[in-house]
Amino acid sequence: MTKAAASNVFPFPAPRVDDYPTYLPLQPQPIGSLLDADEYKQNQNPPKLFEEMEIRGVKFPNKAWVAPMCQYSADNGHPTDHHFVHYGSMAMRGWGSIMVEATGYVPEGRITPECLGIWDDAHIPDYTRIVNYVHGLKGIIGIQLAHAGRKGSTPAPFVEGQFVEKGWKGGSTIPAENGGWPTSVPAPSAISFKGGDYPDPIEASVEYLESLKKAFVDAIERCEKIGFDFIEIHGAHGYFIHEFTDPISNKRTDAYGGSFENRIRLPLELAKIAREKWSKPLFYRVSASDWLEEDLGPEKRANATEGEDEWAWWGIEQTTLFTQKLADLGVDLIDVSSGGNDLRQKIKLGPGYQLHFADHIKKHTENILVGTVGLITTPHQANDILEENKADVVFFARQVLRDIDFPLEAALELGVAASPAVQYQHAWTRMVVKRNAEEVNHKTSKEHGVDAVQGQEGHKKEVHANGNGHANGHVNKRAPPPEVHTSVP
Ligand SMILES: Cc1cc2nc3c(=O)[nH]c(=O)nc-3n(C[C@H](O)[C@H](O)[C@H](O)COP(=O)(O)O)c2cc1C
Repeated sequence: MTKAAASNVFPFPAPRVDDYPTYLPLQPQPIGSLLDADEYKQNQNPPKLFEEMEIRGVKFPNKAWVAPMCQYSADNGHPTDHHFVHYGSMAMRGWGSIMVEATGYVPEGRITPECLGIWDDAHIPDYTRIVNYVHGLKGIIGIQLAHAGRKGSTPAPFVEGQFVEKGWKGGSTIPAENGGWPTSVPAPSAISFKGGDYPDPIEASVEYLESLKKAFVDAIERCEKIGFDFIEIHGAHGYFIHEFTDPISNKRTDAYGGSFENRIRLPLELAKIAREKWSKPLFYRVSASDWLEEDLGPEKRANATEGEDEWAWWGIEQTTLFTQKLADLGVDLIDVSSGGNDLRQKIKLGPGYQLHFADHIKKHTENILVGTVGLITTPHQANDILEENKADVVFFARQVLRDIDFPLEAALELGVAASPAVQYQHAWTRMVVKRNAEEVNHKTSKEHGVDAVQGQEGHKKEVHANGNGHANGHVNKRAPPPEVHTSVP
């Protein structure tokens, strides 16, 4: 080729992600991270929601994180195309972190037959495809490792809903012929979540717990091979580990039951194993309260009799003590949810209805980051939480499903310029504007106001009474409340 001819050739190859199996344009920086503050002066001294955060060398580009959300769309534990699109879309939209939903590290640890699993090496490639894509976009993605305990072998809410409409009265137990495992549902004690409706669990033997620890280690090794950026242990919503910590569901008389120290033994063992095997960020999701004060009085009994557990139910006092122990083991972040272990729960719904638990834990523990979740739906609401130091990160669940572009919309609303995906940049010209710093006041959020909450708990009556720490309410001027009831593990 002559020199003259060469000069007619566009000199730059299209920047692409190296080693990605198909052509994937290279993102100049993580989607949702702030653009250079020297050029975009409004990004100097940014709102906390858009501060980068680093945990054990993993850089999260902002603090608007996706909470885990079961999709009931797996095939014998394998992620499917639905998961690829679902998580891949989030990665295109600038969330600071994405968490793969509750994933069983043993088959009987799934909630429904359609829940994700990671009990087999054969699962690895399907997760790797998703993780490689998210990483190809410079995103961060982790996974929630879960065991459903006595809430396992139950139907997906939309499956049960369809059959209830058609007259199904068989309860919330999936029989073996439909892929369930109703006769081998383990729990700390043989107490059904809802007798006659949910499976009758069997008391987990110590041998079973030992085999579980081994399966947990294997799952962590798979997470390492897949390349996940973090792991969250699911210890909330009335599933196996929460059941162990809770005097309501744990009536054991061995080393795993009775006193507070015994009830928290299993989760601490799992957290210790995870910390030893996993060098990247480690999170733990807790239910900070059973919300049983109205029915059972204070969490701590005033006059415990000889040999009686001094704690009546699981609440914020034990959660705070427990969190400090997790912190001492090296858990990096406590993800503070609530409820799900007792149908008598009276959740006081409202915007940020679980924030006071996160705030309490943040003020009374040390060396652990705190995440909050639950009816957080507007940029100012989320940013205020961080500015007021009530939590370190904000998790969003249903808001992600309603408004997947929330992070970039939040940048616009909070007056900063964040990086959109290169393919979508024409949609964000109103946000990617070079301004003077003085033009923007990020922190005027007090008057943001949230609309009335239209909430309702106990939706199980209609669909799936798994009473699971989820509030079925909405606060939002950005999106109307959905018409349907959702059920949340
Ligand atoms: C469809 C759906 C699935 C969920 N699945 C999970 C899950 O897998 N693990 C979990 O810990 N919480 C799960 N949750 C609870 C959410 O993570 C979150 O704690 C709850 O919805 C409250 O947050 P929100 O008001 O932002 O939706 C789920 C919620 C929804 C809506």
